[in-house]
Amino acid sequence: MIIEKLRIQKNIPDEEFDAIYPFEIRELSERHWTSVYVAKIASNFLCNQRPMKVLDIGSGAGKFCFVGAALHPSSEFHGIDIRENFINLSNHIKDEQRVPNASFFQQDVLEMNLKGYDGIYFFNSFQEKIDVSSSIDNTSEVSVEQYITYTKHLFNELNKLPRGTKLVTYFSEGFCVPNSFRLLETHFHGELKFYLKDLEPHEFNLLLNEQDINDHIDKHTFLP
Ligand SMILES: C[S@@+](CC[C@H](N)C(=O)[O-])C[C@H]1O[C@@H](n2cnc3c(N)ncnc32)[C@H](O)[C@@H]1O
Repeated sequence: MIIEKLRIQKNIPDEEFDAIYPFEIRELSERHWTSVYVAKIASNFLCNQRPMKVLDIGSGAGKFCFVGAALHPSSEFHGIDIRENFINLSNHIKDEQRVPNASFFQQDVLEMNLKGYDGIYFFNSFQEKIDVSSSIDNTSEVSVEQYITYTKHLFNELNKLPRGTKLVTYFSEGFCVPNSFRLLETHFHGELKFYLKDLEPHEFNLLLNEQDINDHIDKHTFLP
């Protein structure tokens, strides 16, 4: 059992981990799924003080949650994803590989409820809205307006979280993150960022930086 081996060895090569997935999901791994090593250091940050309830926003094939759950058995990892096939696959692997502390739910980010989570992981789930080269399949509509709506929603929901919440972002722009989160560490040339929320929303001017969003869209939009 691959996840059992990860529990014991604490790290395994991605090619070996990805063997839990069918071929078409393995094919997406390098570009779209968090590597075992990144998931390990991100989950170590999230769970280093006490058992945590962690949400992966846009969990894909569940790789971040499976690695985190294997390495931190007293923490709970939940994943939400808009794609039903990823959620069905993740729940199937959870049973097959016996990972009781990982769970997956089909949900759009616009419906998510972050209440009760003390750790959040976010790997740039909205890029496919503005960049056709980032799309996983042909089910997602490319739309700058939706990119802005989703980004604002994420920002507002993060803003509501209580002090002490931890956040990890991977290949995600800083404008998604309210200033009530303090940046503690960066890794991988700044692509992996660890934050701690240490201000309540009313204690800071928490405006979303619209100019940064527009600059990002100008630079990174590749439409068909
Ligand atoms: C880059 S992948 C990250 C996968 C996973 N977090 C990991 O690290 O292995 C982004 C995921 O976000 C999902 N996603 C995109 N838009 C979403 C939305 N509006 N609501 C929920 N999930 C979404 C995609 O289906 C995709 O699986």
